Amino acid sequence: MVMAINRVVCLALLLLSGTFLLGSKVESADGKACTRNCDPDVAYMVCPSSGHRIIKQVCVNCCSARKGCKLFRNNGSVKCIGN
Ligand SMILES: *[C@@H]1O[C@H](CO)[C@@H](O)[C@H](O)[C@H]1NC(C)=O
Repeated sequence: MVMAINRVVCLALLLLSGTFLLGSKVESADGKACTRNCDPDVAYMVCPSSGHRIIKQVCVNCCSARKGCKLFRNNGSVKCIGN
């Protein structure tokens, strides 16, 4: 009985960590080794995939930004474009 419960818990943990790893891999676009730091310099970004709408309160940096996303500073100047 106890063994069975342990097995279920183990499976659940494996599944959880699996989806977590998969999710974070998908998020980092194309397998680049990016830090997940939020760039305090970035005020908002505009992505082609979001229909060029302004996305505010983003937690991205120049490395983690998705392809084609433009990262803007507070003063409206483009800091970088995701690649
Ligand atoms: C905006 O700020 C950046 C960084 O301080 C600076 O390099 C850039 O020239 C500024 N752009 C404008 C339009 O003020």
